[in-house]
Formats: sequence, structure tokens, C-alpha cells
Amino acid sequence: MTKGLKQRILEKVAPDLKKVEIALDHHLNPNVELVRQIASHLLFSGGKRLRPLLMIHSARLCGYNKGFEIKFSTIFEYLHAATLLHDDVVDEADIRRGKKVAHTKWSASKVVLTGDFLLALALDIAAKTREPDIISVIAKITRDMSQGEIDQLAKKGKLDLSEEEYLEVIERKTAVLIQGACQSGAILAKAQKEKEAALKQYGFHLGMAFQMADDLLDYIASAEELGKNPGADIREGKLTLPLIHSLVNASSEDKTWMQDVISETEFDPDQFEKLKEKLYTYKGIEYTRKRARDHVKRAKVCLDGFGDCQSKQLLCLIADYSIERKV
Ligand code: IPE
Ligand code: IPE
Ligand code: MG
Ligand code: MG
Repeated sequence: MTKGLKQRILEKVAPDLKKVEIALDHHLNPNVELVRQIASHLLFSGGKRLRPLLMIHSARLCGYNKGFEIKFSTIFEYLHAATLLHDDVVDEADIRRGKKVAHTKWSASKVVLTGDFLLALALDIAAKTREPDIISVIAKITRDMSQGEIDQLAKKGKLDLSEEEYLEVIERKTAVLIQGACQSGAILAKAQKEKEAALKQYGFHLGMAFQMADDLLDYIASAEELGKNPGADIREGKLTLPLIHSLVNASSEDKTWMQDVISETEFDPDQFEKLKEKLYTYKGIEYTRKRARDHVKRAKVCLDGFGDCQSKQLLCLIADYSIERKV
């Protein structure tokens, strides 16, 4: 039997992952014990560390060999962690990575402020790269991500959210960070501009595919697999591509039924199952998978100009994994 994608990736990145874990612990270093507790609750609860790995291997793909890629990769996990802390407060989520979210253990105010600490920590480490272009990429990420989340919040419950509006939100809230991790790796390696642009583009497509997969998993995965509660998106009034596409294709009777279900804050598991059936019937699931696969294909094309090496193979595997994943 061929090895699973996840296992093939893990075999390649196991030594990096160990070092990333140590670096995340080492650089966290707050003065206030409460900040350590809240940040650690999320940071050391088993994230995939996708963003640091992307930065590390983008840098290596561009020939970087100065040895600071692990340290600087923490920027992207701290940024990610900051946005997750904020996101779970905004989304009123219950579980993340299989654990009760931080704001159920501490107050939302403390959690939001810890998110701010992590954001500032990421900026502090970014300044140590002495690369103004990296700092500028990170400033853009934080600007875009906060606007993506605010835009999503403002559009909460909007029953006629268009595919274009959805794409704009997911680009800002998710793709920009993944893109920035890849681009920063190239900048750190002082890569030629075309290589930096190719990795930036790779990261954009990967990020779009990654969020589409997340939105699919919210409908089709189990809580055990996902470590988050499925069905959270519509409970939060968040319309994502599987639903947006199905609403466009639905008969007027089904459309009205679906809109009624989405508008309710509480709905039972049977209704969720029935809604899922409609997403299959009206091809929202299939369409989202197809759009995500297109992005993966385009991501891999961006790597064509790089010579074959371990890091290139890994970035290709990660692209495939972004939509095959169960978590
Ligand atoms: C979750 O990101 C948030 C999204 C952008 C969908 P990940 O799926 O990378 O979360 P962890 O870090 O592995 O928990
Ligand atoms: C992506 O949005 C999260 C961030 C940009 C922080 P979601 O709200 O879909 O992420 P999950 O599902 O909570 O991980
Ligand atoms: Mg969320
Ligand atoms: Mg989600």
C-alpha cells in the first residue's frame, strides 16, 4: 500500500518540526505568567505548523543556508495563533484542536489581549530579520487579516453573499498569511524577484485551497477528526462556498428552506444532515472541491521554475495535502 500523504510529509519534516516546537517555546518568553498560560494553551495544543514549514522550505528552495529559518518561521505561527485566539472569540467557538477554547478558561478580554501580545511578538521577531520587505509583508498580512475578519463579521447572516464576496474574505483572512509565509522565505533567501513572485503566487493558491478545504470540512468532517465542531459556520451565520453555490442552484422551495435553516441560531442535527444532503444535491460540495483542486493545480505550476529538491517535493506534497486533509 502506498504511504499516505500526511505520513510522507511528516517523514520529511520531522526534524524541522521538533526545532520549530523548541523555537516557539524559546521565543515566547513573556514577562507575565498569565500571558504564558493563555498563549501556551493554544500554541502547544497540536497545530499542524503549516505556516512555519512553508516559510522554512520556501527559503531553502531559494538556496537559503544561513541557519535562521527556524527562528524566523516562528513569526508565522505566532501570527497564526494570534488570529486564532481572536477568531475563536469572534466566532464564539467551543473547541479548537480538540480542546476547550481559551476564552472558556479565561475571559475574552484576556484572550484578545494575549492575541495582541502574540502579534507584537511576531513583529518583534520580524524586525530582527533586518529585512524591511519582510516587515512590510507582515504589516500587510495583519492589515488584511483583521479586515477579512471584520468584513466577514459585517456580512454575518447575509443570505445572498456572492461567491466574489466570499473569495475576497477568504483571501484576506487566510490566503494572505500563507502567501506571506512563502514570500518571506524567498525574501530571507534574497531570491530573485521572479522566484519571490512565484512563491508568493504558490502561497496565494495554496491559501485559497486551504480555506475552501476548511469550509468543506466544516460540513463533512466529524468533530473527532477535526478537533473543531462541524456545522460551526452556519451556526455562526457564515455562508461559505458549498452553501453559496448550492443556494444559487437550488429550486425556489429548497432555497427558501435552506435560508430558513441558516437564519435560525439553533437547529437540530437532523436539520444539519438534511442541509448537507442539499449541498450534495445542488453540487455545492462538488463545486467547492473542484475550485480547491484548481487552486492546488495552479499552486504546483508556480513551482515549475525551481529545480528538483527536497523542499520542492515537500511544497508539492503540501499543496496536495491542503485539500486531502481530514484536519
Ligand atoms: C485553521 O488553520 C484556520 C484556517 C485558516 C482555516 P489550521 O488548519 O492551519 O490550524 P492548525 O494550526 O493546524 O490548528
Ligand atoms: C479562518 O476562518 C480563521 C482565521 C483567519 C483565523 P475560520 O473561522 O473558518 O477558521 P476556523 O474554522 O475557526 O479554524
Ligand atoms: Mg473560526
Ligand atoms: Mg472554519
